[in-house]
Amino acid sequence: MQHVSAVRKEDAERVVYPIPANVHAETVVSVRHYTDRLFSFRVTRPQSFRFRSGEFVMIGLPNAEKPVFRAYSIASPAWDEELEFFSIKVPDGPLTSELQKIVPGDTVLLRQKSTGTLVIDALTPAKRLFMISTGTGIAPFASLIRDPDTYDKFEEIILTHTCRDHAELSYGVELIDNLAADPLIGELTEGRVTLYSTTTREITPRMGRITRLIENGRLYEDLGIAPLSPTTDRVMICGSIHMLKDVKDLVEARGFREGSLSHPADFVVERAFVG
Ligand code: A2P
Repeated sequence: MQHVSAVRKEDAERVVYPIPANVHAETVVSVRHYTDRLFSFRVTRPQSFRFRSGEFVMIGLPNAEKPVFRAYSIASPAWDEELEFFSIKVPDGPLTSELQKIVPGDTVLLRQKSTGTLVIDALTPAKRLFMISTGTGIAPFASLIRDPDTYDKFEEIILTHTCRDHAELSYGVELIDNLAADPLIGELTEGRVTLYSTTTREITPRMGRITRLIENGRLYEDLGIAPLSPTTDRVMICGSIHMLKDVKDLVEARGFREGSLSHPADFVVERAFVG
């Protein structure tokens, strides 16, 4: 007699699409929901996948003949065995509306090439490195702040993270809290990293857009540090398109020049991609 195994209805209805060519199919290892707008997840890392800390990669789901891919900054450092991402949930977003439903064991697609401008090699050495982020724009800095190369080039790291409310700041707070205990870079980071978190829509002790807090000097007062200067500092910027423009204008007005891999200089900018 032929044995027929029971198949759950939802599994039977799930269409299996072929994995597109030149794409890695990786397994979700863990998922963490921070708020109804933000979540992070970790996936297995293909052995052949190489990237520089701070770069992004195109991500998709195997849920269509031609899956939708979106650029995602890799939030884990280049030495990590897994890949970590920090994502917004857009209710009608072509990718994130589905991506937010992933659970461990699911498959995530990864294009093979990573790229990006938020890399340490695009900056010349200096005393302090400012990483200025809003929302999920903190992701590339989560990678860079766990990379030993960052500490070879800069004495101090100041990470700023601005979100609408307090709960959205959790990812950054945990990132910094966990640095000291990290067996690879814990010792290296000791006393050299400062997190400056602010909110704009919920009342907290530190409020305001980072642009305003730089312009009115509150950032420097709160941290007891000297103002931004191209003689001592380098700046990396990641957030929404308007935030990028405003922070870029602000640092250019202070004499900073934009750098690239071919011409390293004082600051670099990368858009936090969503969709
Ligand atoms: P605000 O609440 O005043 O808009 P979002 O979640 O919409 O991506 O925003 C993340 C954070 O970035 C919010 O705190 C938001 O402040 C802030 N922000 C938005 N636009 C700018 C800008 N042009 N310059 C600086 N910060 C900004």
